[in-house]
Amino acid sequence: MTASSYDFDVLFIGAGPGGYVGAIRAAQLGLKVACVESRATLGGTCLNVGCIPSKAMLHASEFYDAAANGAMAKMGIEVSPKLNLPAMHAQRVDAVSGLTKGIEFLFKKNKVTWLKGHASFVDAHTVSVDGQNHTAKEVVIATGSSVTQLPGVEIDNAKGVVVDSTGALELPAVPKTMVVIGGGVIGLEMGSVWRRLGAKVTVVEYLDQLLPGMDGDIRKEAARIFAKQGMEFKLSTKVTGCTVKGKKATLTLEPAAGGEAEEMTADCVLVAIGRKPNTEGLNLDAIGLATNARGQIEVDHEFRTSVPGVRAIGDVVPGPMLAHKAEDEGIAVAEWIAGQVGIVNHDLIPGVVYTWPEIAGVGLTEEAARQKGEVKVGKFPMAANSRAKTNHEPDGFVKIIADAATDKVLGVWCIASVAGTMIQQATQAMEFGGTSEDIAYTCHAHPTHSEAIKEAAMAVRGKPIHM
Ligand code: FAD
Ligand code: NAI
Repeated sequence: MTASSYDFDVLFIGAGPGGYVGAIRAAQLGLKVACVESRATLGGTCLNVGCIPSKAMLHASEFYDAAANGAMAKMGIEVSPKLNLPAMHAQRVDAVSGLTKGIEFLFKKNKVTWLKGHASFVDAHTVSVDGQNHTAKEVVIATGSSVTQLPGVEIDNAKGVVVDSTGALELPAVPKTMVVIGGGVIGLEMGSVWRRLGAKVTVVEYLDQLLPGMDGDIRKEAARIFAKQGMEFKLSTKVTGCTVKGKKATLTLEPAAGGEAEEMTADCVLVAIGRKPNTEGLNLDAIGLATNARGQIEVDHEFRTSVPGVRAIGDVVPGPMLAHKAEDEGIAVAEWIAGQVGIVNHDLIPGVVYTWPEIAGVGLTEEAARQKGEVKVGKFPMAANSRAKTNHEPDGFVKIIADAATDKVLGVWCIASVAGTMIQQATQAMEFGGTSEDIAYTCHAHPTHSEAIKEAAMAVRGKPIHM
C-alpha cells in the first residue's frame, strides 16, 4: 500500500491527553488524522473522571473547609457554611462538560476525524472500529489506564459503598466514615475531599510510608500535616477481604508482614492502589505486539513499538501516569511522524498532589541523588516565607538538591499552598541546566511563595536571608 492509499496518515487510539493532543498536533503539521474514542465524550480519563473532576471537588471542598474549620475566621470572616452537595457536584459536571466539548470543537477546527467506538487491530495498518475497518500509515496506541483491582474487594460504584476514584468523585452523600485503601495520590486527594466535607477518613497503606516515589522528607512532612488535619493512617497494613451488608462495608486488615487480623467497618471504602495500562481488547496478538511484565507497551525514544508503523504514548507506556507527560508525548510522537524531531525530557516530569497544602517535586529525590554522588541540600520552611505566613499557611518547606561539585540542580521538592505553581520555575531552571546559584540570583517578586525557592537555593550555599 502506498502512503496515499491509506485512509489516514495517522490514527490515534484513545482521546485522552496523549491521543487528543497528539491528534491535534499531527493535524496542525498537515497530516490527515483520525482519533478513535469509545467514551461518549473526548478527553480521556483526565477530563472525564480524573484530573479535572477531582480538582473541581478539591477546589470546592477547600472553600467549604476554610469556612467550616476556622481558616476564614482567622481572617475575620465568621460564617457557618451549609453544604449543598448536589450543587457542588453540578459545578464538577459543568467543568467536565465545558472542557470535553472544547476538545470536540478543537477536533473540528483542526479537521481531526473522531471515529466513535472501540478500536482493535486487524493488522499493523488496519484498525477495526466497532466492525468497520480503517487504515493508516501510522497507528498510535494511546489507550491510557484503568483502576487496579484488589482481590477480595469488589468495586461497585453504583452502590457507592466500595468505590474506585470514579465512584469517589460522585458520592451522593458525605459518608460518616471512609476507608481509603492506598496512601498514594488518589487516596490523599479524594480522602481530603471527603474529610473536608465531614467524613472521618482512615488511610490503609501497605508500605510503611505514604506517597511512594517522593522525597523522604516530603513523605514524612506530608504524613504529619494530613494527621494534623484529622486523617488517620494504618501503615504497613494490608486488606485481605471485604464484605458489604446494606450500606456498610467490613474490611479485614492484617499487618503487611503478617500477624493478627482485625476488622474495620466503614460507610465507604475507596480502592486506590494504582492503575494498570489498557491493552485488553486491542487484539495486540494480531500484530504480534507483546507487553512487558507490568502490562505496559515498551517504546523507543521516537515512541516506536517493536511493530513497524505502530507507536504508543501516555499511561500505556512506561513512566509516570500523568496527564502532562501524556500530552508532551502526544506532541512529540506527532512531530516524529511528521518527519520532525519530538523531544520529551523524561527526567524532568513534575509531579503534583493537589491537597492542601499542595505537594510537588521534580527531578531526583535526595535518596536517589545521594546514590549517584555527593550532593548539597538547601531547605527553607514556608513558616519563614512572608506571604505564606501572612496567609496563615505555615506548613511545608522547599528543598533543593544540587550536585556538590557542579552546583547543578538535581531535584526540587516543595510542600506549600501553591507548590503546584511554584514547581514550574524549578522545572524550567533544571531544563536549562541551571545551578542553585542561578536560582538564588534570579530576582523573585515579593511577597510571593516562590521566594521560598530562592531562599532554599541560597540555603544550598549556606546563606538564606530570612532564616
Ligand atoms: P487516558 O486519559 O486514560 O485516555 C485513554 C482513552 O482511550 C480513554 O478515553 C479510553 O476510553 C480510550 N480507549 C481505551 N481503549 C480504547 C479502545 N480500544 N478503543 C477506543 N478508545 C479506547 N494526572 C495529572 O497529571 N494530574 C492530575 O491532577 C491527575 N489527576 C487524576 C485524578 C484521578 C482520579 C485519576 C484517575 C487520574 C488522574 N491523573 C492526573 C492521571 C491522568 O488522568 C492520566 O495520566 C492521563 O489521563 C493519561 O492520559 P492518556 O491519554 O494516556 O490516557
Ligand atoms: P499510587 O501509585 O499513587 O498509590 C497507590 C498506593 O497504594 C501506594 O502508596 C501503594 O503502596 C499502595 N498500595 C498498593 N497496593 C496496596 C494494597 N494491597 N493495600 C494497601 N495499599 C496498597 O496510585 P493511585 O493513587 O491509585 O493513582 C494512580 C495514578 O494516577 C498514579 O500513578 C498517579 O500518577 C495518577 N494520579 C495523579 C494525580 C496527580 O497528578 N495529582 C492525581 C490522581 C492520580
